Amino acid sequence: MDKRIITDAIEFVKKTFHDDYSGHDYFHTLRVYKMAARIAQQENADLFIVQLAALLHDVDDIKLSPETYANKDKAVGFLRKHDVSEATIKMICDIIGEVSFRGTDSIAPETIEGKCVQDADRLDAMGAIGIARAFAYGGSHNRIIHDPEMKPAVNMNGEKYQSHISTSINHFYEKLFQLKDMMNTSTAAKIAQRREDYMKSFVAEFLDEWDGIL
Ligand code: ADP
Ligand code: NI
Repeated sequence: MDKRIITDAIEFVKKTFHDDYSGHDYFHTLRVYKMAARIAQQENADLFIVQLAALLHDVDDIKLSPETYANKDKAVGFLRKHDVSEATIKMICDIIGEVSFRGTDSIAPETIEGKCVQDADRLDAMGAIGIARAFAYGGSHNRIIHDPEMKPAVNMNGEKYQSHISTSINHFYEKLFQLKDMMNTSTAAKIAQRREDYMKSFVAEFLDEWDGIL
């Protein structure tokens, strides 16, 4: 029965994200699902909760579905339809509520299951894939790639982080280079180190090319 819900959840997110070009496509959710399961196995977390929360973590995202964000209507509707207990639904909703990066207002999840899902979501914003997603998101939100006159803002709270207009290169300083030290599990921290090194060399190369050095 657990297997069937997971298969249905994969189908559900495939339908939900079929027309997303902002870096939140179905494959983002699928990668988070697989990475969260990998971390959960290392960390002895409840695999079923982690898999379901990972699959549903973006269906009621405030940017993608503002009308269902507050009550997580899509996630709750899916889980109720599959007769998941109210206690499990609450656990999953709490995990989804804690997952997002919100600058200095970011939350470290209470449960090991929440830690696995948050780490997996954040790892997907890092490394080669993170670089691709940052520019895809920037383009789809009319952000320019880089402007040397616009300096990155640091220590933004959640509200400032959401409303701040910036460039895609600044996003590395404003979020992506902070993620490694925010990992909850040692399994994810190791993967984050490699991905951060890769992003740092990319940005260094980018800025040298910009300055005509390379
Ligand atoms: P998630 O909901 O998966 O935690 P976000 O919604 O914050 O992540 O962002 C989705 C993707 O777009 C991530 O890879 C993120 O780093 C990137 N992104 C978010 N905000 C910006 C931005 N202002 N500029 C460039 N990329 C961004
Ligand atoms: Ni996500």
